[in-house]
Amino acid sequence: ATILYQDQFIDRKQAKVDIEDRGYQFGDGIYEAMMVYSGRIFLLEPHLKRLERSARELSLTLPYSIDHLADNIKKLIELNQLEDGVVYFQITRGAAPRQHFFPEHTPPVITGTVSSKVRDLSKRPKGIKAVLAEDIRWLRCDIKTLNLLGNVLAKQKAHNVNAGEAILHRGETVTEGSSSNVFIVKAGELVTHPADHRILNGITRLFVFDLAKRLDIPVSEREFSLKELLHADEVFITSTSNEVKPVLQIDDQRINGGEPGALSKKLIAAFDAEVE
Ligand code: PDD
Repeated sequence: ATILYQDQFIDRKQAKVDIEDRGYQFGDGIYEAMMVYSGRIFLLEPHLKRLERSARELSLTLPYSIDHLADNIKKLIELNQLEDGVVYFQITRGAAPRQHFFPEHTPPVITGTVSSKVRDLSKRPKGIKAVLAEDIRWLRCDIKTLNLLGNVLAKQKAHNVNAGEAILHRGETVTEGSSSNVFIVKAGELVTHPADHRILNGITRLFVFDLAKRLDIPVSEREFSLKELLHADEVFITSTSNEVKPVLQIDDQRINGGEPGALSKKLIAAFDAEVE
């Protein structure tokens, strides 16, 4: 496979990462994962905007313009003849002798990879099971950084019991999934945690706001409790790779009798119509 390394396209086997890369030693870097549908990157602009914001929040100076980075990501997809799948793109603060503070005059290290994943609706599961996990992450979850150990531990907790996602909570307040945003439906309204420093402001989350507006479904960005989650009419998660996915069971509690709810199905149909 061809990968993107800095400004070049090379074979994956030729790629080398320095053992003192700060991404490797400190998780000091940022990333984006984007879907490719029929050879085109879905929601590319908002992903790039978020990448720019993540860089700014970490004082990481991008070595190329966003337009140039976008051109390289598109070229990577062409060179791999990717029709449907995921493109993963990351930038670290580069390689320098190990010290916590930022190195000077060290170029960031850019890598990009693609993986193909056919979007087969006939094989799409109706929904997933989830587990609850305490949100032990830091308080800048709004930045899409490579520091994902809190997310990884939560996802493993789900994986250990064959669940698809861990739903995180800080005390009584539900924040988001280990790699997704969480929505509940209550009395015909969508409710999801506000986009503050406790969650990643998902691009799919924002896209669902657009779909909901078109479908005349009200959306409320407010904190909601574990109790509201477990007694919700419907629960679904959103993320780049999961799109809109109903949550049918949380720990031992079934949601909506273990079936996808009406508004979840409406949103999924609207999503599909945008992608087809
Ligand atoms: N994860 N919250 C967290 C913690 C995430 O890691 C993600 C995405 C989301 C949803 O964001 P978006 O809709 O922009 O994908 C929310 C990506 C897919 C990942 O880690 O691979």
